[in-house]
Amino acid sequence: MKMWSGRFREPLDPLFEQWQRSFPFDWRLLPQEVAASKAHAGALYAAEVLTTSEHDALLRGLDEIAALLPRQNGSSIADAQQNENPIQRLDPQLSEKAEDVHHFVELALVARIGDVALKLHTGRSRNEQIATDLRLYVRQSAEALIANLAAWANALLQQAKLAGDAVMPAYTHLQRAEPVLVAHWLLAYVEMLLRDAARLQDCRKRLNLCPLGSGAVAGATLALDRAQMATALGFDGPTANSMDATSDRDFVLEFLHALSLIALHASRFAEEITLFATQEFGLVELPESFSTGSSAMPQKKNPDFTELVRGKTGRILAAGHAVEMQIKGLPLAYNKDLQELQEPLFDATERMRMLLHLLTKFTPQLRFCKDRMIAASETGYLNAMAAATYLVRKGIPFRTAHEIIGNVVRYALDRKCELDALMLEELVRFSRAFAPDFFDAITPEATLDCHDVSGGTARHRVAAALIDAEARVRTWMNAFGATSREPMQEAHHAGA
Ligand code: ARG
Repeated sequence: MKMWSGRFREPLDPLFEQWQRSFPFDWRLLPQEVAASKAHAGALYAAEVLTTSEHDALLRGLDEIAALLPRQNGSSIADAQQNENPIQRLDPQLSEKAEDVHHFVELALVARIGDVALKLHTGRSRNEQIATDLRLYVRQSAEALIANLAAWANALLQQAKLAGDAVMPAYTHLQRAEPVLVAHWLLAYVEMLLRDAARLQDCRKRLNLCPLGSGAVAGATLALDRAQMATALGFDGPTANSMDATSDRDFVLEFLHALSLIALHASRFAEEITLFATQEFGLVELPESFSTGSSAMPQKKNPDFTELVRGKTGRILAAGHAVEMQIKGLPLAYNKDLQELQEPLFDATERMRMLLHLLTKFTPQLRFCKDRMIAASETGYLNAMAAATYLVRKGIPFRTAHEIIGNVVRYALDRKCELDALMLEELVRFSRAFAPDFFDAITPEATLDCHDVSGGTARHRVAAALIDAEARVRTWMNAFGATSREPMQEAHHAGA
């Protein structure tokens, strides 16, 4: 039976009936729906709407239903398989009948404990239920993603440690600019991921209020203890306005915007790796376990992994746009349009988690071609800035020093040599400030170490930055999990 058939004489058009269902995708909310239902049952019991034995029966039934979802191993779940509803296989009959996850729980509860199950819907509406389920889902996903981010950041940190004093060219305008430590480059990504984690936590903080008790739009018609329900679900308190609570999906958008930034960071990393792995750059060696061959050209080793990271970023960003379009212009309060935002939300969340998990496995297997990196850092006058700094130390204004070194570079270009191959006699023709110590000032080490400011690539500054970044990554790991949680693995936990 439908949850609303009383006032209707005609059945639904069968095709429309199928088309309007959300159970094929909102089955994912089963753990959250059960957790929220238990909290509601607790409030009904406190309000003396349920007897002790009815309350016990409801909790027992709800626990059995939560146990329906098998714990799954994320590594075996490819992106393509995410839309498969496991409950469809476990209970095809009820799944056929269930309009949405709320209806499914009601049907499954009746099947287990009989008509007392129907008392659960006293004083509540699906509108507050879906709002609550989604908040729990986003909260839990934000936490899981923070753990995934911390794990990837940690993988980057470990690579940075292993890189030691290895040097690479830093680029601006994709032209060689100045040498930096490989560790310095990797730490740039760690900073991005730490900001991403903070953004997710911020989103989590703002969403952590409980809509239960908001009813369909105007508030529950029973004096339910909203604070009690909020506490039971780990919320900081109840939401303040029933119309807002049942129609607000800001938290979904905020979360998807945070995901967009994570995806953009992943995509920039993926693009750099793709580029650096070309024969033209030759700065990194891709792991074979993350590369594919060509069916046509036997010599090929293609960077499919990083290309797909770039590609999937488009879909994650699109999810945010889809939700914006769905919410734009919706009158208060609940409208069925809101059901449409679930699929982009689930899709982006699951895709993002898999992406981060794979990046965490991929990163430790990257090999840096240190010889190529050094060669690239020592050719193309990447020490010109250090050379100008040398003249500045000798009292020459930077503008003039820049001009002098520019002329020296022009001269060396004509001679087809680097600055350190020039003779002092040649140099003094450009400025009397050049002395024998000039050559010490433009070695690769000196070129790094002249950037001796916090946040700079001087070797001792990067060593300190590593320690500092590691402490910050540890803080996130300690709070949200030390390993990269596999996507879906804990997705079926209860909400709290
Ligand atoms: N499946 C619905 C959704 O996700 C649940 C809420 C239904 N509420 C209603 N008034 N029809 O939006």
